[in-house]
Amino acid sequence: MRSRDPTVKMTSFPWRSDATSVSQVPANFVLPEDKRPNLSDVSCLSIPIIDMKEMIDDPDRNPSPLLVEAIARACEDYGFFQIVNHGVPEELCQRMLKTVTKFFELSTEEKNKFFSDDVNKEVRFFSRYLKVENDEKVSMWSEVLYHHWHPQEDFTPPLPKNPPEYREVIAEYAKEIGALVTRLLSLISQGLGLEKDCLKRRMGETPTRRLQANYYPPCPEPELTLGLAPHTDFNALTIVNQSDGVTGLQVNKDGKWVAVDPIPNSFVVNIGDQIQVLSNDKYKSNLHRAVTNKHRRVSLAMFYGPGKDTEIGPIENFIDEEHPRVYRNYRYAEFMEEYHRQVGLRKRLKEAFRFDN
Ligand code: OGA
Ligand code: NI
Repeated sequence: MRSRDPTVKMTSFPWRSDATSVSQVPANFVLPEDKRPNLSDVSCLSIPIIDMKEMIDDPDRNPSPLLVEAIARACEDYGFFQIVNHGVPEELCQRMLKTVTKFFELSTEEKNKFFSDDVNKEVRFFSRYLKVENDEKVSMWSEVLYHHWHPQEDFTPPLPKNPPEYREVIAEYAKEIGALVTRLLSLISQGLGLEKDCLKRRMGETPTRRLQANYYPPCPEPELTLGLAPHTDFNALTIVNQSDGVTGLQVNKDGKWVAVDPIPNSFVVNIGDQIQVLSNDKYKSNLHRAVTNKHRRVSLAMFYGPGKDTEIGPIENFIDEEHPRVYRNYRYAEFMEEYHRQVGLRKRLKEAFRFDN
């Protein structure tokens, strides 16, 4: 039995270039047996793949009912789908991932300039943990860079200057993702039978936009640990760009884990808690996790959510006798506070806002 050292520091992470490489996962990263990933038990299903080509050909046209319906199905069944022909230049997606990867390859000292436990920091470099019995923290096999993004304003001054192209690339990428979010929210609104701009308007005047870059180093014993523990995203919509050829993301479907195999030049899109609440549970904010493997994997999640003072609650259209109102209304800031209270646990986030709680 490897014993855990509760004083683990960022600098003692085994994959760092300044540490000797390891052939075993150190005890701090070893999960209790019931929390391990069981890698051989993966479903043979896959999440839906949706071709958005018709929107590139003519972005102003009304989407075909087929496209709206495909997205609606995916949101109800999985809360997850992959999109191809999404209109964001492939070269830019690659350059963005490469730039983020370069950040993670910097020295520990350089990255630690952004290290913080303060959740209100504009830019944060940190690592994750999962709370197990006796409030013991088990470290996750990953590192995270977290900061805001904006499609129009210059949000880059507080961001890393190293790698030198970081600010420029992220500014260009943010513009494209901003446009893609608008297109997707419109398609999702239409699939719900709402006005095109309904969900976007529900996010308020100043939506919250956050970027989460995840770095999963090669792991010698992937069956003992996780890169990212099972969770749902607490925002409204997430768009993920991930390394080609390396799997890791898994989505829960009826209690089984479904692997999301990366397809070249695609994004993974998923519904977050806020759309689940707005749709009064019609659409799912689904549980997902990231397992590690022998290869390095990088993913970049672009989160989009309501402004902090925006009120969120089920939209009237989804409430009737058969579907009573599931959640109370709340300000998004309240939801975020609950999220921070549950860090390391994150088990019953939406549930805290349910009427039958
Ligand atoms: C996340 C997330 C998935 C991945 O950042 O919330 O779910 O593939 N990331 O890293
Ligand atoms: Ni997530």
